[in-house]
Amino acid sequence: MSRIRRFSMGNPINTEAVLKKLPENKGEIPYFKRIQKMEVEKFSADSQGTMVQRDYLSYSMSPKDKIYGLGENVRGIDKRGWVYESNCTDDPNHTEGKHSLYGAHNFFVIDGRETFGVFLDDPGRLTLDFGYTKMDEIRITPEEWNLDLYILEGDTILEIVREFRKLIGRSYIPPRWAFGYGQSRWGYQSEADIRAVVKGYRENQIPLDAVYLDIDYMEEFKDFTVDQERFPDFSAFVEEMKQEHIHLVPIIDAGVKIEEGYQVYEEGVEQDYFCKDQEGKDFAGAVWPGKVHFPDVLNGNARKWFGSKYQFLLDQGIEGFWNDMNEPAIFYSEKNLEQVMKKIKSMKYKNMDMWEVFAFRDLVNGLANNPEDYKSFYHKINGKPVRHDKVHNLYGFGMTRAAGEAFEEMEPQKRILMFSRASYIGMHRYGGVWMGDNQSWWSHLLLNLKMLPSLNMCGFLYTGADLGGFGDDVTEDLLLRWLALGIFTPLMRNHSALGTREQECYRFTQTETFRNLIGIRYGLMPYLYSEYMKAALRDEMLFSPLAFVYPKDTHAREVEDQLLLGESIMIAPVYTQNANGRYVYLPEPMKLVRMKSVEEIETEVLEKGHYHVEVSLEEIVFFIRPGKIVPYTKSGQFMEENEYQEKDLKFLHFAEGRAEYEWYQDDGYGKDYENPAHYKKLWVN
Ligand code: GLC
Repeated sequence: MSRIRRFSMGNPINTEAVLKKLPENKGEIPYFKRIQKMEVEKFSADSQGTMVQRDYLSYSMSPKDKIYGLGENVRGIDKRGWVYESNCTDDPNHTEGKHSLYGAHNFFVIDGRETFGVFLDDPGRLTLDFGYTKMDEIRITPEEWNLDLYILEGDTILEIVREFRKLIGRSYIPPRWAFGYGQSRWGYQSEADIRAVVKGYRENQIPLDAVYLDIDYMEEFKDFTVDQERFPDFSAFVEEMKQEHIHLVPIIDAGVKIEEGYQVYEEGVEQDYFCKDQEGKDFAGAVWPGKVHFPDVLNGNARKWFGSKYQFLLDQGIEGFWNDMNEPAIFYSEKNLEQVMKKIKSMKYKNMDMWEVFAFRDLVNGLANNPEDYKSFYHKINGKPVRHDKVHNLYGFGMTRAAGEAFEEMEPQKRILMFSRASYIGMHRYGGVWMGDNQSWWSHLLLNLKMLPSLNMCGFLYTGADLGGFGDDVTEDLLLRWLALGIFTPLMRNHSALGTREQECYRFTQTETFRNLIGIRYGLMPYLYSEYMKAALRDEMLFSPLAFVYPKDTHAREVEDQLLLGESIMIAPVYTQNANGRYVYLPEPMKLVRMKSVEEIETEVLEKGHYHVEVSLEEIVFFIRPGKIVPYTKSGQFMEENEYQEKDLKFLHFAEGRAEYEWYQDDGYGKDYENPAHYKKLWVN
C-alpha cells in the first residue's frame, strides 16, 4: 500500500517530475503547520530589526532529528542547520555560505522523533530553512503558494526513498562504455590536441574510454556546429577515435547564437521557438558566443525541434553528450547591460567613496544571472505565456528532456550518454548530472562524496564530480585521492578549466599508480555495473549514508565521510592532504580490502569499531560487509577489452560458509533491461 499523500496548494504547474499524479488529499497537511505572522527580522543590518510578513510551513524539530536529501547541494549529508534555496544557479564557488547549486531537488527525509519524507513539487524559488532562523524549526517558504506537496511515510528511510523513486520513475541508464574513465578539459582545441590526449593515455597504458569535447570544438560556440578548420572531417575523426576505442562526447549549451545565416538561429526565429521578452520579441541574453536566444524547451513543439538538432552529431557517429549552461546561465541581458553602461558612464569622473565603489562593483557583478532578467522573459506552456522565474528550475530538465525524447525517436534501441549541469527531479529519467564547477580543493573532494547519496535519493544515479577539480590548480596527491573516490562513481571523468594546471594523469610522475588505480575501476566493473543496474531497475540507492542502513547505531548516524556502495561494499576515501590514512567506523565486522592493483590484493578481517586505517597514495582501500561478495575481473585498457564472462570472474568475499550474489549482466548497449536472463546467481562456499 502506498503511503504517499499529495496536497495541492494554489494553482500548481505540472512539472512532470512525478509520473502519475496521485489524487489530491483534501485533509490537513500532517506534521506541518502553516504560520502567517509579522515577525522581527533579527539578522538585518539594522540592529533594531525590521518587521516582516512571514508565511511558511513550520515543523518543530527534536534535538536528534536529522534531515537528508536536497540532491546536489552544499554542506553535509545531514542538511540540518542551514537555509537552502531551490534555485538552479550557475555559481562555481561551492562554499558553505551558498544556498543553492545547479539543481533544484526538493525532496528530503526527516528522521528522528518521526520519520517521513517531503517532496515539494514547485518549479519556482523556494526557501528551505532547516534550523537557520530557529535551530529547532523547519520553515518552508515558497515564493508563491502554487505547488504540490507530497508527504511520504514508511517504516525506514530506505523504504520512504524507494516509494519516492517509484513515484518519479526509473533513473536514467547510460551505455556501458560510459562507466569507463573519461578525460576532459576546457581548452582542447583541435584534432591534434585530442590525439595527443589519447596517445598520452594509451602509451602509458592508463585505461581510457572517452574524451570530452568542450565548447572549443564548435564554430564560434554555436550549438550543433563543428569548427571546420580545427576538425576538417569530423565524422572521419570520430571514426578514427572509435578505432582507438575512444568515444568523443561533445558539449551542448543552452543558448543559441544570434547570427544571420546560422540555421539553428534562423529556424528558431522563424518558428517562434525562442523565449520571448515583455514586448513579445525573442529575448536576448549573452553566453559564450555573445548574444543568444534561449530555446523554449518548456514548449512541446520547441522542445521537439531542439531535440531534433542532436541528430547532426549522432549522424557523425557521436553517442553521448553533456548539456551545459542550462540553469540557464546568462552573462548579461541586452537590456540590463544598456542600463548598467549608462550608470557607469555617469560615474566616470567621480571621486567614488566606499558606498559608490560598492555600488559600482555591484553594477558589474550583478550583470550575470540577474534575478530581474529571469523575470523579464516568457515561456509558452500549453499555449499560455508563463514568466520564466516561475518555472526557472525546469529549464535544465526541459533541455535534457528535449535530447532524451529525441534519442528515443532517433535511436530507439540504443542507449545514448547524456548528463546535464542543471536539473530538477524528473530529469533523472532522461540523463545524469555532473556536480558542476568544483575547485581543486580537498574540501570539495569531501563535498562531492556527500552529494552522492543525496542525489541518489532524488533519482540521480548517473553522477560524478570533475575529478581533480575544475577550477584552480590540482596537485598530484589530490588527483590520486580524488580518483580513489572516482573509481566508485558511475560517471568517472577528469575535467578542468581553461587556464588551470593541466591534469591528465600522464602529466604527473606516478604513472604506474594512475594505471593501477584506474585499472581497479575496470577490474571492479562486474560489481559496479551490476549494482548500478539493480539500483536503477529497483529504485534503490546506489550510495547510502551509514545512517540509512544502520539506523539504530548512534555512531553510524553521525558518519558523514563513509558510504555504502551497493549491497557489499563500504567506502571510506582519504580526503585530507598529507594524511597517511584516516579514521573509519565499522558498524559491523567487515573485511578490509587493500588493492594496489587488481593483481595485488591484501585483506584483513576487522571487528566492529573505530579504527585508524593507513591508506597510501598507491592503493585503494574498501570494506566488504559480512556474508557479501564482490565479483571482479582483470582490467582492460577500455571497456570493450574489459568485457568478461562469468567464467572470468574472481571473488572477493567476507563469508564463512555459503554466500550469494545476484549478478546483473547485459550487453550494456541495448534497452532490454528487464530480461530475467540478465540476473545470475553467483556464490562462494
Ligand atoms: C561551464 C561548465 C564547464 C565547462 C565550461 C566551458 O563552466 O560547467 O564544465 O568546461 O562551462 O564550457
